[in-house]
Amino acid sequence: MMKKFKALMIDKKEGTQQLYHLEIGENELMDGDTLVKIDYSTINYKDALAITGKRSIIKKWPMIPGVDFSGTIEKTTNKNFEIGEKVILNGCGVGEKHFGGFSEKARINADWLIKKPKKISLLEAMSIGSAGLTSMLCIMEIEKVLRPNDGKILVTGASGGVGSIAVMILSKMGYYVVACTGKKEERFLKNLGASEIIDRNYFRENNKLLNHQEFKGVIDVVGSKTLANIISKTYYGGVVVACGLAQGVDLPTNMMPFIIRAITLKGVESIYVDKKIKEDAWERISKYIDKDKLKLQTSVINFSEIETYSKKLINSKITGRVVVDNKN
Ligand SMILES: NC(=O)c1ccc[n+]([C@@H]2O[C@H](COP(=O)([O-])OP(=O)(O)OC[C@H]3O[C@@H](n4cnc5c(N)ncnc54)[C@H](OP(=O)(O)O)[C@@H]3O)[C@@H](O)[C@H]2O)c1
Repeated sequence: MMKKFKALMIDKKEGTQQLYHLEIGENELMDGDTLVKIDYSTINYKDALAITGKRSIIKKWPMIPGVDFSGTIEKTTNKNFEIGEKVILNGCGVGEKHFGGFSEKARINADWLIKKPKKISLLEAMSIGSAGLTSMLCIMEIEKVLRPNDGKILVTGASGGVGSIAVMILSKMGYYVVACTGKKEERFLKNLGASEIIDRNYFRENNKLLNHQEFKGVIDVVGSKTLANIISKTYYGGVVVACGLAQGVDLPTNMMPFIIRAITLKGVESIYVDKKIKEDAWERISKYIDKDKLKLQTSVINFSEIETYSKKLINSKITGRVVVDNKN
């Protein structure tokens, strides 16, 4: 008889979302050319939104959420991969319209997989996750315009997943990093490599079209008024990379920073970004990540704790990253 395995399923009945811890068989997974035994997954902001139902992330019901996982190939018909290979999956619609990482197994298309870089483990890969991948994609945009000695780089949501890894890698690369946070996490952020810390309230109000120029580059995960205010404080020729909406989806800005200060506002997207760019980003992450710091900022939780930690993450109660041990 086929051995069953754990999976977390979300379903929606009469407009209400419900979560189920189930035992399912391989025959209940979705189609794909490759079967992966999942070792670790992670709770990204998007997963927390899906699990708490705060935004409509799920595109197909019922769904196994989890936009990321790392694991080992058990079966494949794809000629670019082999059985036993260690792999990472980020995004590609997994956890939204194709069964995702909160399961002990996944059947997916191997074209969505990244071969795990040799320098990092499967656990470290999920400690980095889509959040860390996004940090590196943002850093790659900063590097197109700025060098380490050009000036201050601001990172918002610095104690969160994207922000903390961005602080860690930018400082390792030699950039002067200003970490913006709403938490009392000065020691944590200094240890990651931040040179300065700013309270997030500093960007709360803004009634000027242009403000004093403070930052050469910015990685923003917050959006809304905070992003508008930051744009008004960015240097002539500076670059603002926006990837998140933790404060809101609006952007109440004006034309002046763009036509008077020639500022670039660049969006970053990690789910469907070109596979070659993703592979390059993962190689660069494996080169620059500080494994000791990564371990210190990672909480490893059991499968049964996914819902509890998703609620904490959405309420900004998590510092760093959360990895799910799918075996426990
Ligand atoms: N574009 C993409 O492909 C992509 C990929 C990954 C994530 N994202 C987005 O990036 C954002 C952050 O993701 P994450 O994984 O880093 O989440 P996270 O771990 O929850 O971190 C978000 C951080 O933002 C800050 N924050 C939360 N609410 C805020 C508010 N109302 N005002 C100001 N700051 C607030 C908090 O940091 P402090 O307490 O330190 O201020 C929080 O820790 C999310 O919107 C997510 O959807 C986008």
